[in-house]
Amino acid sequence: MTDFIKNPVVALPERNPAPHFSEQELVFSAEEKARIARWVSQYPTPDGAVMWVLWLAQEKFGFLPPEVLRLVATELDIPYAQVYGVATFYTQYFKEKKGTYVLDVCTCFSCQLTGGCDILHYLEEKLAIHAGETTADGCFTLQEVECLGACGSAPMLQVSNGPFVYCLTKKKVDALIAALRAGRMPGFTSVTLPQDEDEMGGNRRTDVESTIEYAALPIAVRTR
Ligand code: FES
Repeated sequence: MTDFIKNPVVALPERNPAPHFSEQELVFSAEEKARIARWVSQYPTPDGAVMWVLWLAQEKFGFLPPEVLRLVATELDIPYAQVYGVATFYTQYFKEKKGTYVLDVCTCFSCQLTGGCDILHYLEEKLAIHAGETTADGCFTLQEVECLGACGSAPMLQVSNGPFVYCLTKKKVDALIAALRAGRMPGFTSVTLPQDEDEMGGNRRTDVESTIEYAALPIAVRTR
């Protein structure tokens, strides 16, 4: 592809990158194959289960390099391009190796209006990396993402496709980073936007210190 595209506007993937996993590693276990078969049985055609299987593969291998995408395509007996298309559409699927914690900072409309970009830049300075990069110690990957559906509690970020951390402040970011470095996910988030802002003195950010825990389970952890 890179042979005939002279000035690509985005970085093109390498055509034949060196594989990260050996042939021996690139297998699904009998138990994983049974789960895949169960998912496939829920759809008219096997490609319906592609998101489930990609998620399973990501949990197993940590990320989704081309050889893992090929394994998924082979397992479902669908074209590689179809699997590639789905994997590259969603930021939640990691196409390259990430840090131990992936911080997805939302800078979409509501989050941007309430300081999401400031939070992103604060994290860039604090971690000494730019969005899209991983810290030298491999602890954090920082990403800028689109709306994660928690606009009422903006600005927010998500940790490794899991817990949402709402109503961010720099102080809250400091506490989050310190806790994650210590290997634990703090339990704070926040109440959502009250119906009547007058109750909050017209300032929705006064709910910043409220604590209600919410953590979404990675989808592949939910068994059917
Ligand atoms: S705009 Fe950030 S969660 Fe919707």
